[in-house]
Amino acid sequence: MEPLEDPHGKGGLHVMKRIIVTGASGQIGIELVPYLRKIYGDSNVLATARRHVPGPVSEGGPFELLDVRDGKTFSKLVSSFKADTILHLAGILSAKAETMPQESWDINLGGTFTALEVAREHGAALFFPSSIAAFGPSTPQDNTPQVTIQRPTTIYGVAKVTCELLCDYYHKKYGVDTRGLRFPGLISYEALPGGGTTDYAVHIYYEALSKGRYTCYIAPGTYMDMMYMPDALAAVVQLMEADPSKLVNRNAYNVSAMSFAPEDIAASIKKFIPEFEISYDVDPVRQAIAESWPNSLDCTAAKEEWGFDPEYDLDRMTQDMLERLKQKRQATEG
Ligand code: SER
Repeated sequence: MEPLEDPHGKGGLHVMKRIIVTGASGQIGIELVPYLRKIYGDSNVLATARRHVPGPVSEGGPFELLDVRDGKTFSKLVSSFKADTILHLAGILSAKAETMPQESWDINLGGTFTALEVAREHGAALFFPSSIAAFGPSTPQDNTPQVTIQRPTTIYGVAKVTCELLCDYYHKKYGVDTRGLRFPGLISYEALPGGGTTDYAVHIYYEALSKGRYTCYIAPGTYMDMMYMPDALAAVVQLMEADPSKLVNRNAYNVSAMSFAPEDIAASIKKFIPEFEISYDVDPVRQAIAESWPNSLDCTAAKEEWGFDPEYDLDRMTQDMLERLKQKRQATEG
């Protein structure tokens, strides 16, 4: 496929030209890779993952197997592909990481350290997806500032803060063009998230359509930040194409499009499926993680420094999610 025109109106003068994506089998990668290929051209986006990924990620352009802890292979791929940008998505999500803290540290922290070293070696830019998990119970919970207390209590969050600091360090010490976003819960219809705390906000749509009801593992009244995947994909490209002289808070920017509790998303679904019912069976582990994270982020820095401007609010997202999932169901049912 030929590259599309620059979506950000810079007349096709992309900063990124040759992009390698790690963790391309994950919830973000599955959608980010085809999205990038549309903008930059199929052959200019190399997707990598620990295992083979069927579908557009491996069939729509170059694909290689990569364990991000394997620095030699990582470096060889960046060199032979002549990548100028590494979008480093590989990682284990919060709830799953709590079941395997040591291995998660190795992948989440060790993998990012390796990615930074490869970026330094080859002069590549690096995108790091941080998270609302980089905050903890002592962080101000409402309208959480860009710069504030970060004392997370999960192994996932501890690795995210460490990686934010490492990205700052590599930028200051070696001039690596590191940039990052603190993603909220991401909601999407192409691939399910695996082992996160915010996953309920994806599962609820699937079960609203298949069963008309959903049993939620997060308690009512628990607010977390969320964003629809199209806004997340646009934010990655916008940040990586932003004028570097404007980036003060590089690693990493608060981004969020909405903040809701389970009863709010249920009410939104009821507008489209009136008979939908939510009930609760709270999982203490994921509930404790959710309570340690902010209720709502202040995204002023992202708006001011590179124009973050998400499109989807809760109802618009609900309408789109339900339509897309219905179409998917019809396609698989033949
Ligand atoms: N969505 C992620 C999780 O729940 C947070 O970054 O683990």
